[in-house]
Amino acid sequence: MTKTAKLIIDDKTYEFSIITGTENESGIDITNLRQLTGLITLDNGYGNTGSCRSAITFLDGEKGILRYRGIPIEELAEKCSFIETAYLLVYGHLPSLKELDRFSQGFSDNAMIHEDMKHFFEGYKSGGHPMGLLSAMVGSLAAYYPELIKPHPSTAEIDIMIVELLSKVRTIAAFAYKKSIGEPYVYPRHDLRYIPNFLNMMFSSPAKHYEIRPEAVDALQCLLILHADHEQNCSTSTVRMVGSSKANLFACLSAAINALWGPLHGGANQSVIEMLEMIRKDGGDIKKYVAKAKNKEDTFRLMGFGHRVYKNYDPRAKIIKEKVDALLKALNLHDPLLDIAIELEQIALSDPYFIERKLFPNVDFYSGIAYKAIGIPVNMFPVMFAIGRLPGWIAHWKEMTEDPATRIGRPRQIYTGLLKRDYIPIEQR
Ligand code: ACO
Repeated sequence: MTKTAKLIIDDKTYEFSIITGTENESGIDITNLRQLTGLITLDNGYGNTGSCRSAITFLDGEKGILRYRGIPIEELAEKCSFIETAYLLVYGHLPSLKELDRFSQGFSDNAMIHEDMKHFFEGYKSGGHPMGLLSAMVGSLAAYYPELIKPHPSTAEIDIMIVELLSKVRTIAAFAYKKSIGEPYVYPRHDLRYIPNFLNMMFSSPAKHYEIRPEAVDALQCLLILHADHEQNCSTSTVRMVGSSKANLFACLSAAINALWGPLHGGANQSVIEMLEMIRKDGGDIKKYVAKAKNKEDTFRLMGFGHRVYKNYDPRAKIIKEKVDALLKALNLHDPLLDIAIELEQIALSDPYFIERKLFPNVDFYSGIAYKAIGIPVNMFPVMFAIGRLPGWIAHWKEMTEDPATRIGRPRQIYTGLLKRDYIPIEQR
């Protein structure tokens, strides 16, 4: 029997069906609320609002569970490659050997970007933030590959667009970095796999040999997998919002990159390192910064702490913490910022302020230390997040465009402005 929820307004009762997902998550279907009652719901930041049905990622923030297409993140991080994870997210199943080969081949075949696009990079100032370049370049792909932005692409055309994007974004990201440091671009190589190819484009140059360390490849692979999807977060909801107007996929992704850039979202990994560095330079007085974070008069927050849905340790942070330890050992590195991060975590987790509010380290708390050990500069951290999140964004775009229930995203509001009044001519004001 379908469960229902009753809403009583004045003396009238309205009934709404309760829908339940496969993991028993329930929600009240209020599609007809306004039509029946004349009322809307007000939910700042959408903390209680389901915007869609989705079969891609399950996350239980109370229990610290995260699964892509049913598979626990811990298993994927240990056993899967990023490309395999991308396939899983986008197509819903683990690829066969043949499917994976074809998919990987698509990456190699599409790694180059149009030569003319290089001129576009030239127009940017060296030292500009690479996230700005990345979003501009991804949006511009629509102009360079007009054949991919048909209003109603076929399944085969969508498949091409997906590998093109996944592959080219990595090249654009590396070019954006080279531009930001004023070095010549390094082209993708056919003989290298996805992650070594990226590292080579980032760090090799005509003047110096770059050794691709397997430990760095392994750590980066893990980080990208952990970032690959996180259901209806800010940037993914942006993809769905922009895509709901039937804007092309490049436009949706460019918007998502900008949403991710914010320090409360994917830009937090950069902010965490900047915060740890600030604490270090200030003599390492961690308690002072914990006190600042708790002080409501102070705008300072512990970056990399807290999450809208996790009220338990973020499972991704747990995996990254172990990875960071192993990576630093393998590369024989010592990062004083890691010591500060570990102590900061211990102090915060035993402080009533953080305990009461269920604030735990999130994915970004340790990821920056791993990126730093690999040699990735701080302003590229959000770009790394974007490369990792791309399969998730694409999977949601695909799911949304295939769902007949999709309508243009158009929230309502409660108007709090002035009542009707007359225009006053300028000379009378
Ligand atoms: N430091 C100090 N206090 C915090 C922090 C923090 N990092 N995060 C939340 N709080 C406090 C808030 O002040 C609030 O306290 P109050 O109830 O006394 O007013 C309470 O905890 C609840 O916080 P909200 O801001 O209401 O939580 P919300 O779900 O809106 O925000 C967010 C979540 C944005 C992640 C927040 O925790 C934050 O700003 N964290 C730091 C930035 C960060 O790490 N972002 C990355 C998130 S993960 C990702 O997007 C990849």
